[in-house]
Amino acid sequence: MAEQTTEQKKQRIFSAIQPTGVFTLGNYIGAVRNWDKLQEQYECIYAIADLHAITVMQEPAKLRQNTMRAFALMLACGMDPERSITFVQSLNPHHAELSWVLSCSTMFGELSRMTQFKDKSRRHSDNINAGLFTYPVLMAADILAYNADLVPIGADQKQHLELARNIAQRFNQRYGDTFTVPDCYIAPQGARLMSLQDPTKKMSKSDENANGCVFILDDKDTILRKFKRAVTDSETEVCFREGKDGINNLMTIYSAVTGKTFAEIEAEFAGKGYGDFKTAVGEAVADHLAPLQAEYNRLIADKAYLTACMNNGAEQAFRLTRRTLQKVYRKVGFVDRK
Ligand code: TRP
Repeated sequence: MAEQTTEQKKQRIFSAIQPTGVFTLGNYIGAVRNWDKLQEQYECIYAIADLHAITVMQEPAKLRQNTMRAFALMLACGMDPERSITFVQSLNPHHAELSWVLSCSTMFGELSRMTQFKDKSRRHSDNINAGLFTYPVLMAADILAYNADLVPIGADQKQHLELARNIAQRFNQRYGDTFTVPDCYIAPQGARLMSLQDPTKKMSKSDENANGCVFILDDKDTILRKFKRAVTDSETEVCFREGKDGINNLMTIYSAVTGKTFAEIEAEFAGKGYGDFKTAVGEAVADHLAPLQAEYNRLIADKAYLTACMNNGAEQAFRLTRRTLQKVYRKVGFVDRK
């Protein structure tokens, strides 16, 4: 009789981030810092999506540098190459190969309805290339190649995931069961941070006012300055109350990085002014990010390690996707793939 396994097989998560920009404090508090727990519960596969990045104009040297940075940041934020598969998308050729096959199961009309394509073609009207149009097919290939169960994504990628599900279902129907139909991973509700300049809006890297958003690699002076300029209200009391959006947001941030409750924070700042409070929040955020920043700086200086690590991850990724590609090639009627 087969040996009984008490441990259930972990569900598989796939996600990718583009090598553009740095996480905001909002991304970090809301989702990224839960990566540690995520890797306990799930089998995680995380890629830097450099293939997707070239759908808009990139300067080659910059892209290479940003890819290294994004990879280092992913590791500094806790993605652990010992426990998870971490790599760069272009290092595993199966993504692009599968994308071609899947594009023949994707309708022109479906891609035409993608709101991100419409937005981006408006913003980059001088470069409406075919890759921008088929971008969601490559994303579907990323996910389906690994038969991922769950995909953590932001609201802006929902429509793309929905399309990936449709492509998987269509392919399965036409050729027989091949792909896992992925679901959206809904993260346990982390704190939602608001802009420091307009606390009724979510903290976003595209905030018109640069002081509204803190990035996790901002240096201490920048962090302190952004918090010092945070918009509050005309009262003086540090307390969490409806209508005090600015103070509520600062309390949320302070609580998230210190672990203190709102009651403790109110007691700590009773009789003190907003100025003291803002400085304390800035200091606490800078202290909280310091170890992550130190790790990032250590990694980014070690190019040999990063290169070895992303290639090693890509090899692991390649082994997983080879089986999918073999299966797909056989199903669509290609001659045997060794
Ligand atoms: N398109 C995603 C973004 O810009 C990045 C991405 C590429 C992705 N492939 C993916 C996300 C697969 C999840 C799964 O955010």
